[in-house]
Amino acid sequence: MKKTTETNSQTMPIVIPKSGSIHEDDKTTDLVREELHRLIDQVFISRTHIKNRVNDLASQISADYSKAGISKVHMIVVLKGATMFAMDLVRAIYDLHEISVKLGYIKASSYGRDTTTSGKVSITEEIDGVQGKHVLLVEDIADTGLTLSRLKSYFLKNKKAESLKGCALLDKKVRRHERLKELDIDYIGFEIPDVFVAGYGLDYAELFREIPFIVVVNEEYFSNR
Ligand code: IMP
Repeated sequence: MKKTTETNSQTMPIVIPKSGSIHEDDKTTDLVREELHRLIDQVFISRTHIKNRVNDLASQISADYSKAGISKVHMIVVLKGATMFAMDLVRAIYDLHEISVKLGYIKASSYGRDTTTSGKVSITEEIDGVQGKHVLLVEDIADTGLTLSRLKSYFLKNKKAESLKGCALLDKKVRRHERLKELDIDYIGFEIPDVFVAGYGLDYAELFREIPFIVVVNEEYFSNR
């Protein structure tokens, strides 16, 4: 992707296998109310793992920008799914005192109520004031990659941002669109298999956003309703 900043020290994403989840080490499952058990297959990524990974990402992001001599970053949060992640990330970056962050929000959607992408990405809330600025785009999950790729060119070409980096908490790399196999995502929290997840800001038909950990949705339950 053109015009990204030069430093890009990748911390590899944590890869989560389809068969396994990483929640054994804390008590998150106890917090899942009984009713919720019917709706979800498994707790997929625990609060502890999310918290640790967010702190890693914050350190990496702060270090990369400050090494590149950039002290002010425009963090653009992709609504609505990335909100919980972004708020934790911005707090963790603040605590490191290396860079300052200006927050902005953009709304983009490629899904309807369904769990498969429509293939079309629409930007429903425009953003201004990023010309000549260093933009860090924060997304909940990269799936086909269409949203991220569309937003990257929106900020670089339409809005004339000086640089653009992408950060996604989750990456469903196996689902990447044919022409986006090489899509460059600078920061990835967890690489996950092809399962539909919710929680920690992500939804299934507007459900589960408030859960502070990530679950796999039991789609059978919903299709039988
Ligand atoms: P993409 O454009 O196909 O990469 O889709 C990205 C968007 O699809 C994300 O910002 C989410 O809103 C949504 N999405 C993709 N996979 C999931 C999932 O497993 N759970 C919840 N939302 C998802």
